[in-house]
Amino acid sequence: MAVPQAATGWSRWDELVREDRVHRSVYTDSAIFEEEMVKIFGCTWVYLAHESEIPAPGDFKTRQVGRRPVIVTRDGRGRLNALLNRCRHRGATVCRVEGGSALSFTCPYHGWTYRSSGELAGVPWPDGYAAGFDRSDLGLGRLRVESYRGFIFGTLGQAVPDLTEYLGPAASLLNQWIDRAPGGEVVVTNANRMAYRGNWKLASDNSADGYHPAFSHRSLLKMAQRLGEQKDMVYFAQHPDDGPMYVQSLGRGHTFGDQRPNYRGVGSYWRQQRPQPGREAYEQELRRRWGDEADRWLDLAVGSQMNLNIFPNLLVIGNQIQVVEPIAVDHTQLTWYSTLIQHAPDEVNVLRMRSQEDFPSFGEPDDLANFEECQRGLSIPEVDWVLCNRGLGIPDRHHEDDRGVVTGPATDELVIRDFYREWKRLMSGES
Ligand code: FES
Ligand code: FE
Repeated sequence: MAVPQAATGWSRWDELVREDRVHRSVYTDSAIFEEEMVKIFGCTWVYLAHESEIPAPGDFKTRQVGRRPVIVTRDGRGRLNALLNRCRHRGATVCRVEGGSALSFTCPYHGWTYRSSGELAGVPWPDGYAAGFDRSDLGLGRLRVESYRGFIFGTLGQAVPDLTEYLGPAASLLNQWIDRAPGGEVVVTNANRMAYRGNWKLASDNSADGYHPAFSHRSLLKMAQRLGEQKDMVYFAQHPDDGPMYVQSLGRGHTFGDQRPNYRGVGSYWRQQRPQPGREAYEQELRRRWGDEADRWLDLAVGSQMNLNIFPNLLVIGNQIQVVEPIAVDHTQLTWYSTLIQHAPDEVNVLRMRSQEDFPSFGEPDDLANFEECQRGLSIPEVDWVLCNRGLGIPDRHHEDDRGVVTGPATDELVIRDFYREWKRLMSGES
């Protein structure tokens, strides 16, 4: 089936992204993917790293902005930088490791050396260059960088608002997630890396989707259900739209799914968690040392029950941070970073680390399998549309507050529609 002809005044993107549906080529066309790398990842704020990953002068991490290799550094004066990892001589990457500490980077090809702030510090045998050779013009390319309470974002966009304005209502939800930690001191640590053979937006579509868990994660839910009807996520199998959970579109493609209301009146998060082999010893030790206060720590050892999605590549899920990295139109890297709480008892942080063995290892493979099967299904050229119309057109189903935040039932696809509104705005070059 062909895409219907353009109505007058419609752009190519209006053809492909309708209010209730998205054309399959948005997931399968490599030319659109290349355009996304410029118009999405090259034009908006992109999450890079957390300040706790580069705490000291000289610390750095290598990351991607779209497919651009980038070095995120804390330079000798303690300032944050995001530098294009591309030598100004003949284009080689100057840093080829995941992270470390260095106050300069020497390109392995011909030895040009750059400071961690990006300036070109020196070139070998400079007398081989003519008098007009100006080192000050040849620093590494730079992104604009801002940090929101430790979350470092970078952008190549010229007309992008300040980060706090960009985050909008998502900022207060990020605050709620950060402020679970006493003093708000969150530390981002080890990575659990996964990849799937599918488009990067399949992960975004799924990130606040309350429609799929009852089916996609049935084995996980059945295991939990044997231990009680209030266990984590079991509520997704019990008419989720009738319960207190909800999803929200926050504007600019940021979205939110909130499971916390399920816990009102049913006790602690800790007691409603699925079993984690070996966790009892940590619980006993916390109870021995902290008495009645142990419950407060134990609630911080498990997930936040929040799914906060910051367009286009940051998904804050439970007590993890998930980063989406597009590799090709049909290939994506997903990285789950564990987070710890500074100055919390070791047992709490060990349990937080070990929650990588819970949903990321036990549930996420269900999602990755569906992403790959979506990509296979979407390869069929005769069927055009991917639907995101659940909840659309039903009276009184949504509520909009004075900030423009729209709230709907847990299985509503308003979150996907919001993501694609922002996607279309950026792809239309309106940023
Ligand atoms: Fe880096 Fe030549 S490409 S020094
Ligand atoms: Fe899922």
